Amino acid sequence: MPSLTREQCLAYGSRLKERTILITGAGSGFGRETALAFANLGAKVVLGDVNLTGLAETVQMVHAAHGSGVAVSAKCDVTAWDDQVALFDLGKKTFGSIDIVLPNAGISEVGLLSDHAGSGDRPTPPDMTTLEVDLIGVLYTTRLALWHFEKDTRVDPGLQCVCFTGSLSTFYGANNGPMYGASKAGILGIVKGILDHCQDSGIRAVTVCPYFTKTGLMTDDFVHPNPKQGMCNMEDVVAAFVVSITDPDHNFGCWLIPDAQGVFRMETTGQLVGAEGARRPKAEKVSAKL
Ligand SMILES: NC(=O)c1ccc[n+]([C@@H]2O[C@H](COP(=O)([O-])OP(=O)(O)OC[C@H]3O[C@@H](n4cnc5c(N)ncnc54)[C@H](O)[C@@H]3O)[C@@H](O)[C@H]2O)c1
Repeated sequence: MPSLTREQCLAYGSRLKERTILITGAGSGFGRETALAFANLGAKVVLGDVNLTGLAETVQMVHAAHGSGVAVSAKCDVTAWDDQVALFDLGKKTFGSIDIVLPNAGISEVGLLSDHAGSGDRPTPPDMTTLEVDLIGVLYTTRLALWHFEKDTRVDPGLQCVCFTGSLSTFYGANNGPMYGASKAGILGIVKGILDHCQDSGIRAVTVCPYFTKTGLMTDDFVHPNPKQGMCNMEDVVAAFVVSITDPDHNFGCWLIPDAQGVFRMETTGQLVGAEGARRPKAEKVSAKL
């Protein structure tokens, strides 16, 4: 699995210039940091979130750095189809096209399948919120991305891409997170499912898979299960987003950030993915207990 320096990750960053990039969950964490990085590379950004305070902060940060013509935003709950339709429409109306889409909004596990407290003598149905945000919302965003790409009437639309926010859970599942793990594993299913269409249409469909990174998702009580491994650096995660979208030589793959030591590209066409591909080569392991 090739390891990439941040410099290598940014090598094709100029491909983002003048592209319109739509990001869900842009009010915090990866969504915010990618919005800033993409704007730095000359892109226009269309930002949605349910958290309006966080969203306004992100927009303010982009505008402070690049002026007010670079970002538009709207409240967008990814579980609401109409919210997502409206966000895409806003981007199209403002900037003329939607070129790159990040179905990024996500939450950690809400409720546990194994928690039956309060059920009495009858089982109660599970709380499906995590699946609704982390998987159904992603499917909505993906459908809208493909619709907008198809309706693009430019002779040469240029770079078109759906860039998914996976996780190491995409390959390994998540302890105490059956729906989170199922949702993140589901991203590979989505990529596989749209592969032929994307190949035929010249669309990129790529996945960035970070391990634990300090964002709004990481509550203060979070304890890293393997402290020696270290948290991922936000700069590496952002670099992985940039290279996954822009690398002209690799499509349908996964870019992994398994620890504090940088970015790996998984050699895959999207047809062949497996847990073995997500591991570092043995010699590069930072801990024998990984
Ligand atoms: N932080 C990590 O360690 C980590 C690792 C792997 C993957 N991820 C994934 O990264 C993505 C971004 O998360 P983050 O770590 O930046 O966390 P974050 O909490 O900082 O950002 C997530 C954003 O999504 C928004 N959001 C939540 N529900 C929403 C909804 N229904 N509609 C629209 N927006 C909604 C939140 O308001 C928040 O602004 C998620 O998909 C998450 O699963 C995070």
